[in-house]
Amino acid sequence: MAVPLLELVTQNNQFVDEVVEEFREFIGKGQYILGDYVTHFEEKVAKHLGVNHAIGVSSGTDALVLALMALDIQPGDEVLCPSFSFFATAGCISRLGAIPIFIDVDRDSFNLNLEDARNKLTNKTKAIIPVHLFGQSCSMSSLLDFAKQNNLKVIEDTAQSLGSKYQDSFAGTLSDYGCYSFFPSKNLGSIGDAGLVVTNNLELAERAKIFRLHGSQPKYYHKWIGGNFRIDALHAMFLTKKLDSISSYEDARARNAAYYSNCLLADGRFGENQGQSFENESKSVLVPLDLKMGKHVWNQFTLRIGRGKRDELWNYLKSNGIGAEVYYPVSLHKQECFKNLIPSPCPVSEEIAGEVLSIPVYPELTVEQMDEVIQTLLKFTY
Ligand SMILES: Cc1ncc(COP(=O)(O)O)c(C=O)c1O
Repeated sequence: MAVPLLELVTQNNQFVDEVVEEFREFIGKGQYILGDYVTHFEEKVAKHLGVNHAIGVSSGTDALVLALMALDIQPGDEVLCPSFSFFATAGCISRLGAIPIFIDVDRDSFNLNLEDARNKLTNKTKAIIPVHLFGQSCSMSSLLDFAKQNNLKVIEDTAQSLGSKYQDSFAGTLSDYGCYSFFPSKNLGSIGDAGLVVTNNLELAERAKIFRLHGSQPKYYHKWIGGNFRIDALHAMFLTKKLDSISSYEDARARNAAYYSNCLLADGRFGENQGQSFENESKSVLVPLDLKMGKHVWNQFTLRIGRGKRDELWNYLKSNGIGAEVYYPVSLHKQECFKNLIPSPCPVSEEIAGEVLSIPVYPELTVEQMDEVIQTLLKFTY
């Protein structure tokens, strides 16, 4: 039985009838840019996240660009960000002429290591972008203290972790801005590109709305240079409906993660990822842990494979019809486009880029499909 890494159609098909009906109404209303659908979605998602303001934007990438612009990050400013993340986290910094300073990560959470951030702080550092990777929140208290002590702005890249919590608060709601993505594979996935910026600060919310409209207020009077970062009304309409189901998706992802963990850890070759290096480890594969930050929402279930066997296992899974992906094969500080930046060594990030392998964990996976993934993993010679 083939098991894809991701299957989006089953989930989205459930909304077709409702959406088609509403689509007629939408066309008839003639309100195609921002308007009621967007406002309604923003109010609903803000309530869900327990945050004062939510601003719908065109993508998770644009959410980050907008947040950096609205926080007045200038060319030459240094911005700390993890070296192990999707490209957008760092690309957005460079696009504004600011300088990404890459921070190493921890092997257990894959999230940024605060000690390394302390070491790389300079008098040019203006902001830090923690990324809540794979569905798990960063440890935020110490990070927020560090930012406060050093007068740094904080933007949470929550693209992969809508719904996850740090203690009792939703990830993304604890800092100046939280940025989310509704890219189809995310936990709340749309049917195209869309994103969100949230904040508890009224002034920052107003600034975000202005930057979303080319920096104009009132219309045609440009106080700042922003962009067209508006969410499409159609995405807002779709996401408003889908938001009602988010907790069932989260429960299903958590159930799938627990099933994998229980079954794989019963085999002596699989151990828990407690942040150990493979140098002193007898197990062949390390299974990800919920580090009890508050709530893990399992956007990815990412194994670490030791002793240089990752690519061999990946090919073996592929040849047996099992979808798997390497998020991410090249650390950001090693990307060619950043080769002229100040070197920021990140040895752990480089090490895990050669170990990680994500397997299917999407909500609609059946037990039979997970058993197939597990049996295939167990048959490999490590
Ligand atoms: C960590 C992270 N940041 C930012 C983004 C950018 O989001 P989008 O694809 O919606 O632009 C993504 C999306 O994959 C992501 O995973």
